[in-house]
This record gives sequence, structure tokens and C-alpha cells, in this order.
Amino acid sequence: MANAAREQWSSRMGFVLAAVGSAVGLGNMWRFSYLAAENGGAAFVIFYLAITLVVGLPVLLAELVVGRGAQRSPVRALGHFGGPAWSWLGVVFVTAGFLILSYYGVIAGWTVRYALIVLTEGFGSDIANRFDDISRGWDAFGFHALFMIGTIAIVGHGVKGGIERTAMVLMPALFAIVVGLAFYAATLDGAPAGYAYYLSPDFDKLLSFDVLKDAAGQAFFSLSLGMGAMLTFASYLGRDQHLPNESLTIAGADIGIAFIAGLVVFPLIFALGLQQQVGGSTVGALFITLPSAFAEMGGVGRLVGVLFFVALVVGALTSAISLLEVVVSSAIDGLGWTRTRAAWLFGAAIALLGAPSAWSTDVLGVVDQVANNLFLLGGGFALSLFVGWAMPDPVGEVRAGAEGVRWFFLWRTLLRLAVPAFLALVLWDAVPETAAAVLALFG
Ligand code: PHE
Repeated sequence: MANAAREQWSSRMGFVLAAVGSAVGLGNMWRFSYLAAENGGAAFVIFYLAITLVVGLPVLLAELVVGRGAQRSPVRALGHFGGPAWSWLGVVFVTAGFLILSYYGVIAGWTVRYALIVLTEGFGSDIANRFDDISRGWDAFGFHALFMIGTIAIVGHGVKGGIERTAMVLMPALFAIVVGLAFYAATLDGAPAGYAYYLSPDFDKLLSFDVLKDAAGQAFFSLSLGMGAMLTFASYLGRDQHLPNESLTIAGADIGIAFIAGLVVFPLIFALGLQQQVGGSTVGALFITLPSAFAEMGGVGRLVGVLFFVALVVGALTSAISLLEVVVSSAIDGLGWTRTRAAWLFGAAIALLGAPSAWSTDVLGVVDQVANNLFLLGGGFALSLFVGWAMPDPVGEVRAGAEGVRWFFLWRTLLRLAVPAFLALVLWDAVPETAAAVLALFG
């Protein structure tokens, strides 16, 4: 039976805010905007929304069902319901946690650095060169390490005292900042042009498979799916929780913040005629473009910049916590380690693993691709097969706490057929492409 000493969230709100904190992060503000810019704006947004609802939401509910049902961390949870062979999928999840946090922490380190720069001195004119200095080498590594220490300290304080408490304080602040910035952005000259690019689709792009693929990867990344983060958080829930409602709330908040972040970023870019800069978008584009926008806006720009980067840091922190928790909870359950020991040892290992990404943004981009295209999409594929076909009575598990819901059959059918079929199609294209990117890095 479930471990009697296992920690639980102290309230429904605590769980929801922690899960939303996991979902909302650099993915919503940095990754979403740069992918949207690269993939024809609205075309990408439409795909992303559709995939989140039809594919992401069923997988999210699947993760919640496995986690709460087993009351265990990913490796143990999958083994519990599926036997030893499936616990390997849990090992893949933990590996994904390592990999993602290793470069996520580097980008988060940039945002901490940026927040400090805007706060103390403001950006000068030569932002592209500045970004070059900040984003690589010891500078990048140092701030990544600093960010990891913060993450470790919070996770080390436990589910209630660390993760839940942080989310309860920081998430409302983040919502307030992002919404406030969107109102401000609406007053800028470039707002109409920015909205137009963001919201009116380019139909040529809408038909392209590449856009579909990026949108699928983004849907999984943004909802923290396919590597057991949501599974782990759900393992601290009681059986009276209404999982379908929770999944809708989490997905709604994640989409909402991503969408509002777009309402901030695109007007800013267009107000200052910086759209060309984002055209050939790369991981660094926003870190160059947005500070240029803030710099040109003078005094207000300073304030807006501080708020923007503080929101990024907050989003990154609450997401990083969930990534580390996947690893830490597995070490507690599987290796019998104490939480403090697991957090510090594995957190330090992840910080070191981030070194290649800290020294090269090319490496960082490729690791991001591997994590998304292989681990998250592949993990989501395997998990949907698991819950669709292998797990005994998943519907019974969702029903606990959600008796009135009528769409279980639809959910199960999506997980059995549509979700794996769609993900297989995307993987078919994404796997060779990712392999080529990895080879190119070494070649
Ligand atoms: N969802 C987070 C974001 O958008 C990233 C993340 C991915 C977190 C996978 C946990 C697991 O920034």
C-alpha cells in the first residue's frame, strides 16, 4: 500500500498553484514567443492550442491518474501499475529531468542576470554583445549555479514547506505582473501591428508539418508533460481530488499565461520595429530584442524591464522546482535517501551537467531539441500507451473524486488511439531531425 509517511499538499489551492507553477515558466514567455515568431505567428498559436487541448490534456490527466493512484514517484509508480518493464519508463523520466534542468537552469541564470542588470544599471546600447558575454562561459555558469542553489534550497524544504509555500506566494505575483504588462503593452504604438502578426494566421504556414511539430513539442514542454513532473506532484494528492477539473485548471492557466505573454512580447517588438531581429529567431533572440525595446523606452522601460525579467525568474524557478522534484522524489522512494541529501547531491550533479550548455548556446539549443523531441514527446507517447492499454482500471482511478464526469470514454479512447497515433507521426519526423542536429554538433 501507499507509504503512510508520504507528504501531502496542505490544500487544493497549494497543489493547483504548484502544478501551474510547473507549467508556467520560460516555456510560456521565452520559448512560446520565439517559436511563434519563427513559425508565422498565429499559425503556430492555433496549432499549439489545438494540440494542447486534444493531445496535451488527455496526457496530463493520465499523469495525474498514475501519480495519485500509485502515491509514488515515477519509477515506483510505473512499476507499481505495470511491473518492472514499465519502471524503465520512469528511469527515462528521471533522465529527462536531469537533462532539461541542466539547460533550463542556464537560461534561468540569464534571466536572473538580466533582472539584476536592469535593476542596477539598465542596458546600454550594445545589447547583442552584452548578451554574448552573459550567455556563455563562467558568467553563464555562475548564474546557473546560483539559480540551482535557490531551486535546491526550496525542494530541500519539502513538498509543503518548500514547493507549496513558494508557489502560493510567487504564482499570484507572476499573474499580476504579466497581466499588468499586457495592459501596458496595449498602449504602445506597435500594439496593432504586433497583435496582427500574433493573431492573424499565415495560411501557408498553417499547412506546414514543421509548424505542427514545433507546436507539439511546445505543448508538451509548456504543460510539463512526458517526464513525470505532473505525475510526481499528483502523487502527493488525496483520493478525494477531482482530477479532470484539476487538469482543466492547469491547462487553462498555462494556455492563458502563454497567450498573455504573447500580448506583451509582440507589441513591444513591433513598437520599436524590431521584428526583423526576431525573424531568424534563435534561443537568444528575445534576450537581445526585448532589452533593446526596454532601453529605447527610457525610464518606463527600466520599470517594465525589471517587471518582465522578474516574472521570467519567478516562472523559471517554480518550473525548475518541479523538474528537480522528479529526481529527488525518485531518490527518496527508490534509494532511500533523505530529501536534503537527494536535493543537494542531484542538484549539484545537474548544475555540472549544465556546463556544456553554459559554454555554448548551440549545445543548449540541441539539448533543448533532444529533451523535447525525444524525451517529452517520446515519454508522452509511451505514457499514453501505458494508461490506455496496460494500466489496470485507469477509469476507476479518475472516477474517485470525480463521479459526475461523463467523458471518461472519450479520454480513454483518445489515449488509446488518437494521442499515440499523433505522437508517432510527429516522432517519425522529429527523431531523425534531432539525430541530425546532434550529429551536426559533433561534426
Ligand atoms: N513547463 C515548463 C515551462 O514552460 C518547463 C518544464 C518542462 C517543467 C517539463 C517541467 C517539466 O517553462
